[in-house]
Amino acid sequence: MTTAQVGVVGLAVMGGNLSRNLARQGLTVAVYDRVQGLGRDLASGHEGVGGIVDCANPESLIAALARPRAVILLVPAGRATDAVIRDLAPLMEAGDTIIDAGNARFEDTENREKALAAMGIRFIGAGVSGGEEGALHGPSIMAGGGQGAWDAVRPMLEGISARVDGEPCCALVGPGGAGHFVKTVHNGIEYAVLQLIAEAYHLLREGLGETAPRIGEAFADWNASGLDSYLLEVSAEALRHEDARTGRPLVDVILDEAGNKGTGVWAAQAALGLGVPATGVAEAAFARALSARREQRESIRAALGSPEPDSPGEGFQEDVRQALEFATRVAYAQGFDLIHAGSDEHGWGLDCASIARVWRGGCIIRARLLDAIVEANIHDPGTPSLLTDPPYMAPVIAGEAAWRRVVSWAVLSGIPVPVFSSLLSYVDALRTERLPAALIQAQRDFFGAHTYRRIDVDGAFHTLWSSDRSEKEV
Ligand code: 6PG
Repeated sequence: MTTAQVGVVGLAVMGGNLSRNLARQGLTVAVYDRVQGLGRDLASGHEGVGGIVDCANPESLIAALARPRAVILLVPAGRATDAVIRDLAPLMEAGDTIIDAGNARFEDTENREKALAAMGIRFIGAGVSGGEEGALHGPSIMAGGGQGAWDAVRPMLEGISARVDGEPCCALVGPGGAGHFVKTVHNGIEYAVLQLIAEAYHLLREGLGETAPRIGEAFADWNASGLDSYLLEVSAEALRHEDARTGRPLVDVILDEAGNKGTGVWAAQAALGLGVPATGVAEAAFARALSARREQRESIRAALGSPEPDSPGEGFQEDVRQALEFATRVAYAQGFDLIHAGSDEHGWGLDCASIARVWRGGCIIRARLLDAIVEANIHDPGTPSLLTDPPYMAPVIAGEAAWRRVVSWAVLSGIPVPVFSSLLSYVDALRTERLPAALIQAQRDFFGAHTYRRIDVDGAFHTLWSSDRSEKEV
């Protein structure tokens, strides 16, 4: 019987490519998927040492593995993950490790870790980013779990991960659900940046009447400057791609309804729950939801019409570039605020520099700006946000006026820019000396006796709004 060093369950694109990547490291990989044929196709041509062994069921997968066993799951989040764990765990024994390499809600990961610990089985919740290419050639891996479990699987995970300057883009970021939390924030940033790039495209299209391929050219040029990121690179490629059926730019024949698998929504929910104003993430998730409401969009367009865009001033394209560069940095800053807050709330001790290092290669949000985040001292209480880190902000700070011109033009012209505008309001709100939150407190006290604090005296106060309107300390 074959002795495999690792098992993989779930052989859709990500699981299949991760299996190939593991085999390329010289490991023998036992694979199983309940869809028949996937394992067989994967295994053909991969027999022998450093090969892939198709297993017909969970029992034969577990029997094929050397002890202590390690099994990587790449199955859909939620019930499907629970179902696979339910099948595998009774077949495994103390000291074995399950690695959930799919996207997962971090709370689910913590519950699974606890349930498996009662059986002596170790559990790693690993955020794995990079899409199908990353899974095959080297993803970025953000693991969460106990040190013992990590030590058991670390060489294997480091072996398959991307590398930057010789360092693996793979780390144990913290205990329990920390890895999946960090991956959730990664996806939140992914949502915000994708939406910013899409808004930049829309602005150039509506403002300058540019075609998709020409905007693709502009993005490719920007990508060769300080704005370089994987997401801008793929956007440039996609915009320049011609549809084989019609000869038109592909993006012109794709239905304008954005899908999602939920992780951006998880990130926005985490931000709301933790009280972190990660507005870019939330607006990006809402923008996708809005795009999918086709019937409502059509009826509102018919009922209200839409303004005719003015032509923007000179230098609009460069303004959009600068706005994108500044806003992108703010989106990452919000993501790192969310990481800080999650870490404080759960006592994970997350290290932002090491997370930024793991994100420099392999993952979807890899970008040059991460080098500055690795260097930024964002744990220093005197530097509570990346926005106050001079080296991080220096390359973009001069673009503020351009960002304002772009948002102003968009608003006047009826071009939706939810993430460009909300991130600008976020920066403005943070630096406003007195916010209208004082009125919110008065309103809340008026109708709900919720009390307020004063600027001049300590304590909580309530005004007797429905009687003599005197104030009392409560
Ligand atoms: C990654 C991606 C990936 C994500 C897809 C789809 O890091 O490789 O974040 O995990 O699931 O990009 O996400 P949506 O369908 O929600 O856009």
